Amino acid sequence: MIEQNAPYVVVIDGPSGSGKGSLALRIAQNLDFNLLDSGAIYRLAALKALQKEVDINDELSVFESIVDLTIRFEIGQELSIPFLDGINMSNQIRQEATSEAASVIAQYPSVRQRLLTFQQDCFQPPGLVADGRDLGTVVFPKAKFKFFLLASVEIRAQRRHKQLIAMGISSNINTLQAEMTERDERDRNRSESPLVPAPDAIVVDSSMLDLEEVINLVSAHIKEST
Ligand code: C5P
Repeated sequence: MIEQNAPYVVVIDGPSGSGKGSLALRIAQNLDFNLLDSGAIYRLAALKALQKEVDINDELSVFESIVDLTIRFEIGQELSIPFLDGINMSNQIRQEATSEAASVIAQYPSVRQRLLTFQQDCFQPPGLVADGRDLGTVVFPKAKFKFFLLASVEIRAQRRHKQLIAMGISSNINTLQAEMTERDERDRNRSESPLVPAPDAIVVDSSMLDLEEVINLVSAHIKEST
């Protein structure tokens, strides 16, 4: 049974393109919970640093550029809309330059620390569905449910390619796959919050499953254990 009054958090971690964002949105809608896309927070912070034209490879400059970060999200019917300083950044956050910068700045302990409270503050009753890399290990280590979504890099590159094309952003699938492999390496091997499943996470390989099948699997697990 779910404890009454305990923070009810469902975390869905995994690498880029594993489908965790779409899954998190649907589970949040089904449960009528708030949604946290932590990758979008790192992407907005990266955009802020890029706007300020600081050296992305210098931790202190990046940290100083995001001290006064003002971000918010509006949950739409099919997606969460990210705002930076009041401006809708839906398109900018998915650009490859932003993905690359987000992965670089996410290595910095001071940046991760700065963004930690933003993420924890997204919790509000009756509950939260949160997706990212370290939500189950660092941000919400006591989450009720932890899922870690996997998919092969080839499948993830195909999914991201389709997503970008649908948004009118041009992309090359081979370049995308190479960049994803490089970012996975960086995310997995960094000393601060590496991309690894929490020891108590349920690992789901979505390579051969479509979104509806993953939603059914995760929803069934939540229902069974509630
Ligand atoms: O998930 P998404 O691709 O939007 O994340 C963008 C980048 O932000 C990732 O490459 C990762 O380095 C970083 N990130 C992170 N921790 C999170 C979410 C994202 O380090 N919880």
